[in-house]
Amino acid sequence: MTKRVAILISGGGSNMVSLVEAMKADDFNAEPVLVLANNADAGGLAKANGFGVSTAVVDHRPFSGDREAFEVELNKVLDAHQPDVICLAGFMRILTESFINRWAGKMLNIHPSLLPKYKGLNTHQRALDAGDKVAGCSVHIVTPELDAGPVVGQIEVPILESDTADTLAARVIKEEHKLYPSALKAFVSV
Ligand code: GRF
Repeated sequence: MTKRVAILISGGGSNMVSLVEAMKADDFNAEPVLVLANNADAGGLAKANGFGVSTAVVDHRPFSGDREAFEVELNKVLDAHQPDVICLAGFMRILTESFINRWAGKMLNIHPSLLPKYKGLNTHQRALDAGDKVAGCSVHIVTPELDAGPVVGQIEVPILESDTADTLAARVIKEEHKLYPSALKAFVSV
């Protein structure tokens, strides 16, 4: 059975685009059924519309920090689309344990570091500050502890002497666009 995939975004959605494009292949056992943003300005929404994928916005701001109430609305939209898999793709909201448990084993995230290194934000600058020779990106199954779930795929990216956080991020995100589709493909094939 073709797996139904919902993709959650907050911004430009370049990882979402790489997932949607990859799922067009005949041998990819998944289809995008929803792109959901927490922000009506997310540039990825127009891109998803361009692909003919259903989109939705659940703005977190009216909930004034009430994460549970925000997630009730998220779940309403998700349940209406019956996803088998949820891909977090640059979704910049912390999710509660109860939301994550509701989708246990069905939710993936992409993170721009070689986990378990550099959970959280500013990963590239932290790798540079530490004097690392290699950076990269990881796809992991989402569990309640932030960026700590089982890693299902990683790609390493060498750090150059001349790198800034921006130049490193630009090279890492190119690898994210390869890693996430391949990790999702493997995830929906088991
Ligand atoms: C990516 O670097 C992702 O790893 C991080 O946020 C960025 C999202 O970029 N969590 P995009 O919206 O997919 O272009």
